[in-house]
This record gives sequence, C-alpha cells and structure tokens, in this order.
Amino acid sequence: MSLDNLIDGRAIAKEVHAETEARVAALKADGVEPCLVFIRVGEDPASRVYVGMKERTAAKLGIRSETTVLPEDTPEAELLELLEKLNADDSVHGVLVQAPLPGHIDETKVFSTVSPGKDIDGFHPVNVGKLMLGEGGGFVPCTPGGVHELLIRSGVPVEGAKVVVLGRGNIVGKPMTAILCQKDKHANATVTLCHSRSRDVAEHCRRADILVAAMGVADFVKADMCKPGATVIDVGVNRVDDTAAEKGYRLVGDVDFAAVQPIAGKITPNPGGVGPMTIAMLMRNTVRAAEQQTGKGNPTI
Ligand SMILES: NC(=O)c1ccc[n+]([C@@H]2O[C@H](COP(=O)([O-])OP(=O)(O)OC[C@H]3O[C@@H](n4cnc5c(N)ncnc54)[C@H](OP(=O)(O)O)[C@@H]3O)[C@@H](O)[C@H]2O)c1
Repeated sequence: MSLDNLIDGRAIAKEVHAETEARVAALKADGVEPCLVFIRVGEDPASRVYVGMKERTAAKLGIRSETTVLPEDTPEAELLELLEKLNADDSVHGVLVQAPLPGHIDETKVFSTVSPGKDIDGFHPVNVGKLMLGEGGGFVPCTPGGVHELLIRSGVPVEGAKVVVLGRGNIVGKPMTAILCQKDKHANATVTLCHSRSRDVAEHCRRADILVAAMGVADFVKADMCKPGATVIDVGVNRVDDTAAEKGYRLVGDVDFAAVQPIAGKITPNPGGVGPMTIAMLMRNTVRAAEQQTGKGNPTI
C-alpha cells in the first residue's frame, strides 16, 4: 500500500522548531532568555507525560522552563495568587496551566487570570476574542494553530475550500473554525462545524475538501464518509482496550486510518500528525511572547 499521501507532522514540526530555535538565539544575543512556566495541579498521569514532553522540547530549543507542581487539594485562590505573581514577573514570558484541573478549581477563572500577553495556550478571553475578530497579535490555541500550519506547509489549498470540522470543543473545534473562516489568504474557507446534535454528519463530511476530526470518538470517520481526494486531519486521541498491548490499551485517532488513507488526497498519521505540531506551536508562541514583551529578538511571525 502506498503511503505517499501522508502529512508528516513530525517533519513539519521540525521545520517550525528550527525557526523557533533561530528566534531564541536572536533573543539570547539581545540579552533575553525566553522563559516558560508550567503549572501542574495533582498527579494526572497524562498531564505528567504532556508536561514532561513540553519541558524536554523547550530545553532542546534553548527555552528555559520551570515546572511548579501543586498538590491535588490546592485551593483555587492559591493557584490564582501564583498566577498573579508570574504575571508580574518580567523574567517569565509564558505561563501554561496544564488541564485538566481538579474539579474544585474553575478552569475558566484560571485561564482568564493568566495575563493575555503570557497566555501561550491562547485560552484567555482576550486572545479568543482577537482570534474571532481576526485581529493579529493575539495567541492562537496550539492544536488548531498547528493544524493550520500543517495545511499551509503541505500545500493544501484552503482558500474557498469546503471544510468540515467535527467537534465544537473550545480547545480544538471552535478555534479551528475561527481560524479557517477568517478573511485571509491562508484561510477564506467555507466552514461547517458539526457536533453531537448535528444531523446528517456523514453527508456533511462527504462534501468536505478538508475534514478535521476533533471529537474524541475512536475511528469515527470511515471511508464512506470521505470524498476521494479530500485532505483528512485526525486530531483525536482515544484510548481503546487492547489486551495484546503492554499497557492493556492503545491510542487511536478519530479517523479509521486503514480505511480512509487509501482514498484520501492527504492524511495525517496518528500518532505523528497533529500531536508534534501542538508542541511546536506552543514553543513558537512562547518565543513570540518573549519578543512582544521585550521588544527584542527577530519577530518574523
Ligand atoms: N493531538 C493533540 O495535540 C490534541 C490536543 C487537544 C485535543 N486532542 C484530542 O482531540 C479530541 C477532541 O478534544 P476536545 O478537547 O475538543 O474535546 P471536547 O471538548 O470534549 O469536544 C468534543 C466534541 O465532539 C463532539 N462529538 C462527540 N461525539 C460526537 C459524535 N458522535 N458526532 C458528532 N460530534 C460529536 C462533541 O459534541 P457536543 O458539543 O454536542 O457534546 C464536542 O463538541 C480528543 O480526542 C482530544 O484528546 C488532541
């Protein structure tokens, strides 16, 4: 089976990292050491893995990172106080609070407390508003930002394309829709957003030139839901039981890759598609935050 229609997220993330590394070097030459602070509350195993991966990538690119781990029962007020301190600390350029947070902490309040200029996750209402308004200068959430970058760098025509986004989550689906419908030469798409109450989801999918699956439903997208030649982007990360696997489970996407890959024009593998781009965009956002805050370095994007 030919796999020459793969969108190689790892290779494209490497390109973005190389650009980020050059910007880090320019900042350092100007006396600024970009710094990113991670906050983790509790010991959620997936959060530990994600923060660890981000720490290692930051180190590779020359970005200083610090991680604060707070106990599971940390009062919300204590977390907010810590964020205010980091907001006021000029040596810190980006702040990331790893979700999910324990149930007694209001995530919206937390994301709204990180200063918009240090909100490299792009979750603050000011950054969400800037994205909706098509204003530059804000931070775009890393996963949909990474998907956009994948499309651009893979030469997928977005302007005028029919795009279907599956899932209206605040982290992926909604910002993805906002990015692709902007009046911009790299956007200008006609976007349909589907969710669990949408009728005729398969029919919408079959019309899509670009299909972005971000639902969290294992293998949801089947071959008969895709137009031959369409670009298919699989954002989903789902655990499915697998007694043959060492951990008793394996991770799969929202797209039935084996069935869809042969008919897709281009498709992301999963893993190795969207995931690496999410981290690449986080690092790029961090460096941009440092450039914006200090007025130094070599801002290119
Ligand atoms: N690769 C990465 O870096 C990365 C980053 C972030 C997230 N993810 C993955 O992306 C997926 C989505 O994440 P999220 O945070 O956006 O999830 P979310 O907030 O839970 O949103 C899921 C969306 O999917 C919709 N949905 C669920 N079942 C559906 C169905 N059968 N038909 C149509 N729509 C359906 C839901 O509809 P309703 O709104 O009607 O409930 C909801 O809008 C997850 O698998 C997550 O792990 C990956």
